[in-house]
Amino acid sequence: MLLIGPFKQVLPLTGLPAKGAIPDEALQVIENAGVVVDGKRLVAVGPFKRLKELYPAAELQFIEDDRVLLPGFIDAHTHICFDGSRSRDYAMRIAGKSYLEIARAGGGIWDSVTKTRAASLDRLVELTVERANRHLTEGVTTIEVKSGYGLSGRDELKMLEAIAQANDLTVATLIPTCLAAHMKPRDYEGEAGAYLDWVLQELVPQIAGKQWAQRFDIFIEDTAFDTTVALPFLQQLKSRGFDLTVHADQFTAGGSKVAVEVGAVSADHLEASREEEIALLAASNTVATVLPGASLGLGMPYAPARKLLDAGACLAIASDWNPGSAPMGDLLLQAAVMSAAEKLSTAEVFSGLTTRAAMALSLRQVGTLDIGMDADMQAYPCSDYRDILYYQGKMKPCKVWKQGRLVHT
Ligand code: NIG
Ligand code: FE
Repeated sequence: MLLIGPFKQVLPLTGLPAKGAIPDEALQVIENAGVVVDGKRLVAVGPFKRLKELYPAAELQFIEDDRVLLPGFIDAHTHICFDGSRSRDYAMRIAGKSYLEIARAGGGIWDSVTKTRAASLDRLVELTVERANRHLTEGVTTIEVKSGYGLSGRDELKMLEAIAQANDLTVATLIPTCLAAHMKPRDYEGEAGAYLDWVLQELVPQIAGKQWAQRFDIFIEDTAFDTTVALPFLQQLKSRGFDLTVHADQFTAGGSKVAVEVGAVSADHLEASREEEIALLAASNTVATVLPGASLGLGMPYAPARKLLDAGACLAIASDWNPGSAPMGDLLLQAAVMSAAEKLSTAEVFSGLTTRAAMALSLRQVGTLDIGMDADMQAYPCSDYRDILYYQGKMKPCKVWKQGRLVHT
């Protein structure tokens, strides 16, 4: 048994509504508080003095200076398993070149596919662990990671194996998602629908056999897969018991409607969602996951996060960390910067990075500091929780715990 504290403030993030807007008044803030951990789990959260009386035999991990304790963040959408930089794409983009011009110059997703295919399994493991560990030191204790830069049987399986091996080598929890439907590979001879049939018939049984992913994703967009081929693909996966998520409404609206129709756990991006899509998402159980990092990387407007919340949607915020559209990979910075533009409350941002992100990944053991939950936690060097977003991501956690173990100081 371990008693950790005293913290100036502990925000357990429990009891927040699952959907819709959240005022900061809904945040429970426990002053001069502590937590008690038994093995991996939280057994008590409350005023430090009281915990000391209740658990006199607990070993003490003393927190000297003023600190604010939050649950670890959950990044529900990343592509951190890749090789190669796309800084050439980025330089062309900020110099005003179009998507098509960049693709013609050898850039775009296909460039990352080529480089990731050329990378060895070991190299992909190393790169994924490195990025996961950086996230961990920034308070992100659970990270979804997609394949999707392989796009062949051999290379998609190599990516998923790399993610599985990386999961064993990093303290963070990695949640794998198969994104073989990222785009129709250039070397596939056939229509987009035929490629998706190949994924279903050839790839899915192998992934299921090895248990390398319980979730599937598809990029629904004119330049990737249209709604007509995406819907039956997702329905097939649904009937085989996989969780579904969709890259939806990034440039053109449409994907989120398919996501809601098939009961996807989340629809991600949503920069191009209109009132119609916002209403559909709000009325559904599909989490609306917005990705401010992609807006920052592409120089495009943010997803309508405020409108989604006001309509009643469940809003998660993820980094989309990838070499093309979101190379920065700083989840807190991205969420903080977007919240200033979109007018999100601190409670909405924190829940989007924790409880609601857990819902997007169907996780029940993480996201709050409730009793019985995994002791995934982060402490910030301040005495008022509002300082965290105020510094717009510049203030990083000074301590991070994963399942009760101090993993970063
Ligand atoms: O989530 N939108 C599609 N896929 C990625 C970008 C991938 C890339 O450009 O490499 C995204 O933004
Ligand atoms: Fe993405």
